[in-house]
Amino acid sequence: IRVAILYGGRSAEHDVSRLSAANVLKAIDRTRYEVVPIAISREGRWLLQPTSEAVGEGAGAPVSEDGVEVALVPGGKGRLVSTSHKGTRADLAPVDVVFPVLHGPFGEDGSVQGYTEVADVAYVGCGILASAAAMDKDVAKRLMHGAGLAVARSVTVHRNDVGSFQEIAGALGLPFFAKPARQGSSFGVSKVNDRDGFDQAVETAFRYDGKALIEEFVEAREIECSVLQRGDGSLIVSLPGEIIPAGKHGFYTYEAKYLDADGAVVKVPADVPAVVINRAREMAGQAFKALGCEALARVDFFLRADGSLVVNEVNTLPGFTDISMYAKALAAIGIGYSEVIDILIEHALA
Ligand code: DAL
Ligand code: MG
Repeated sequence: IRVAILYGGRSAEHDVSRLSAANVLKAIDRTRYEVVPIAISREGRWLLQPTSEAVGEGAGAPVSEDGVEVALVPGGKGRLVSTSHKGTRADLAPVDVVFPVLHGPFGEDGSVQGYTEVADVAYVGCGILASAAAMDKDVAKRLMHGAGLAVARSVTVHRNDVGSFQEIAGALGLPFFAKPARQGSSFGVSKVNDRDGFDQAVETAFRYDGKALIEEFVEAREIECSVLQRGDGSLIVSLPGEIIPAGKHGFYTYEAKYLDADGAVVKVPADVPAVVINRAREMAGQAFKALGCEALARVDFFLRADGSLVVNEVNTLPGFTDISMYAKALAAIGIGYSEVIDILIEHALA
């Protein structure tokens, strides 16, 4: 089975994707799968990388500009062509399945999923609609709220229609968060304590997206469940793990996640009462279904002191980095990294 592993990409999470891909390239069983690593440059060019076992440590999977530029052929059932040479197209062996190890816009938001559908080739993960819906925090919250799930209160704002600080602070209280609607890894997210902070936070969010969410601050612990779907449709929901951010970051920022080795502690399974574990697992399955997810997702929660849970968000291509929860939480229930990849590929080909 030839598996094209896509990583890098045009979004702000390019570097996170490379870290995720390094782990996927390390864990995938090379006796079962022929790996075709395709790095996507920050500009969006697809560059075939050498199929070596060495997949790059530290900075993550390599994005070598020397790679042959490739494209999937529409209706081509995985036919891959080299487009590097002016005017010529060389056929490469077709791939059986595409595994987009991409985070954020142009990878996790339905766009690559649509491109892959057009190429008529199987792919790992959620379909177009679920990917797009989960990427957009505004749309995702409406769907989850509609399904009866608790979500944080928020106001959706647009670049030309922000509303007043007084009104928002009156509705949500202080502090609150400003977040780009379609972004990951906390890029563009700020905590707002006052009027000055508000203007700056909104501007920061709009750097990433013309739509933003102003969201209430939920005083809570953060727990996350991994959801994995087998080829027969059955769901595996992990025990929740907990993210414990270090004090100086204030919340789980990009820096706390990926740049500061002591920025946060990931504890699996979370040390929470059985009733919370059961409720989190149940709600994770409900959120997965509410957004129409398939194959995989990580469902993130706020856990209040009174034991109540609020769904924060659903990530359809959660991180596979060293610090990421997705694989760790599944490992804690006995499903190792290679097996996760086997199940994902089995699901894609089912
Ligand atoms: N967006 C990052 C990769 C995550 O959710 O893990
Ligand atoms: Mg996210």
